[in-house]
Amino acid sequence: MKFSANIENSQSWIIENRDYLEINWNDQAISEHLQKENSFNFYLLDDDHPIGVLIGHFLYQDQNVSEFEILHIAVLPEFRNQGLGRMILEELEKQLKSTGKSVKIFLEASAINKFAIKLYEKLGYKAYNERKNYYGSNPINPSSLQDAILFAKNLNART
Ligand SMILES: CC(C)(COP(=O)(O)OP(=O)(O)OC[C@H]1O[C@@H](n2cnc3c(N)ncnc32)[C@H](O)[C@@H]1OP(=O)(O)O)[C@@H](O)C(=O)NCCC(=O)NCCS
Repeated sequence: MKFSANIENSQSWIIENRDYLEINWNDQAISEHLQKENSFNFYLLDDDHPIGVLIGHFLYQDQNVSEFEILHIAVLPEFRNQGLGRMILEELEKQLKSTGKSVKIFLEASAINKFAIKLYEKLGYKAYNERKNYYGSNPINPSSLQDAILFAKNLNART
């Protein structure tokens, strides 16, 4: 397994695997994100085949501080529950720390996404807010709206 900042045809790979990656962005949103100057993404490769991805962007950066938002993290279904989600988050932290800056990482998760929430909590992300009924209908129960939980973690905090 190895990480790569880019893969060939990254946009097509994400679009083709959109359902498996459980990313609900449309083609345009994916394309726009990949072209944004502040976007930061990387892929987990198994035998040169992408099996996981971290999609994010820098919200703010100056000489001493950077604020980063994880927009999506995913591992293809057949590779889940083997510690790869954790590996991807640890790689992100390693890369962000290497800048020597004080880093704050933000993300949001649907309150029903138990595995994702478990993973974030294990890695020290703290829930700091909740948005009631933030996400659209739950496909299993179309009448329900899901709450979003907002998480944050500080790296290299100097204060
Ligand atoms: C969230 C996601 C990236 C986690 O990836 P993963 O490789 O399965 O994560 P890990 O194997 O590192 O497991 C993280 C924790 O969740 C638990 N977990 C994951 N899948 C599980 C399953 N099917 N059954 C029970 N526990 C599970 C693991 O046990 C682990 O806890 P542990 O250390 O106590 O064992 C993956 O489930 C995924 O791609 N989901 C779809 C996309 C998504 O929802 N992304 C999050 C958006 S906020």
